[in-house]
Amino acid sequence: MADPTLQQPAGTADIMPGTPDFDAYPVTETIAAAKTDGDVVTVSWSDGLESRYHAQWLRENAADPETINPLTRESTYDLVAAPDGLRAASVNVDAAGALAVRFEPEGHETAFHPGWLRAHDYSNGPAAAIDPVAPQVWTAADNAEPPSFDGAAVLTDDAVLEDWLTALARFGLARLRNVPAEPGMVAKVAGRIGTLRDSNFGIVFDVRARPDPDSNAYTSLALAPHTDLPTREYQPGLQFLHCMENTTAGGAAVYVDGFAVADHIRKTDADAFAALTTIDWTFTNRARDTDYRWRSPSVVLSPDGSYREVRIGGFLRGPLAIPFDDVPRAYRALKLYSRLAGDPAFQQVFTYRPGDLVGFDNRRILHGREAFDAGGGARWLQGCYGEREELQSRLRVLARNRRLQ
Ligand code: OGA
Ligand code: ZN
Repeated sequence: MADPTLQQPAGTADIMPGTPDFDAYPVTETIAAAKTDGDVVTVSWSDGLESRYHAQWLRENAADPETINPLTRESTYDLVAAPDGLRAASVNVDAAGALAVRFEPEGHETAFHPGWLRAHDYSNGPAAAIDPVAPQVWTAADNAEPPSFDGAAVLTDDAVLEDWLTALARFGLARLRNVPAEPGMVAKVAGRIGTLRDSNFGIVFDVRARPDPDSNAYTSLALAPHTDLPTREYQPGLQFLHCMENTTAGGAAVYVDGFAVADHIRKTDADAFAALTTIDWTFTNRARDTDYRWRSPSVVLSPDGSYREVRIGGFLRGPLAIPFDDVPRAYRALKLYSRLAGDPAFQQVFTYRPGDLVGFDNRRILHGREAFDAGGGARWLQGCYGEREELQSRLRVLARNRRLQ
């Protein structure tokens, strides 16, 4: 079923109706019975679960051409024009096993695909998580090396792509090995996910010691664990680093789960955690032609208390703009966070081999490197940025394509 059509024409009631989107919904449970009190429709499933749906919600999600544009699958429904007192006047399970509903006073009739209805039940607890893959925080004790996958196959094999991206979403980083060490390859691989994020450093940037660096990254200095572009309102959600060459002494890569560090502080030092999540730091980019600045706490929580992002960048911290009396607390908390991020207990440390390509969530995972000897040999990485939402979208589509097969 590559492209299910919307509502079937009258007289074909034994054919399952379409759905208001492009996904596929295997029918794992059938509808045993359905009833309505006008405002709410109650569906009893073959496994005993009962789901309730509001008449207005059902009406808006009707998979018919009067409600959903069949080409775009976007809604054409006008809520303002909906009749007051809209009711699901009658319901029944049709010959195909779909839920047929008659709405009054419109006299509108439509049928709902049971797989779609079951997948969109919002009456039994909170709706399904919006993340396609639940994040899992880690420390060195349980995740000493990045999960690794075959980079030679990732450009052509969706199964390998999905494995890599699932690990990336879960652990915040995942490594490909043996990606051909060719310039520009990093953008090709990251482009398998979605559009890339440009910046003043270019779509693809070369990380190597340069005579005229415009970032500490382009020297042989050690870089403490950090997020990239903390100077932007929206830090890139993804970063990719692809090793082209590495024959220098030193320069080991360091990766830290920034959420794990925050969580450790949350459990052990309430005042430090409060300071990290509420006091703004200022980040400034110092460059001849750009002047990006942003202020944010180091750890940003979602309204439900889960971690949204970390923003850590010692070499880009700028002048303070916080209440005078907050300064000692702010420094104490940041020092604690940074000390923990520098502790091997939180770190993955490894040496890049040519062909290694690490993808990571730049709003969660801190990355850094040890200093290297710029005189002996060469160390050359190519990098680019993407966004978390591209990763999530690609994961959903890869899963959908498996269902549609
Ligand atoms: C960077 C960076 C890490 C490295 O370019 O932003 O942190 O291993 N590089 O060189
Ligand atoms: Zn960096």
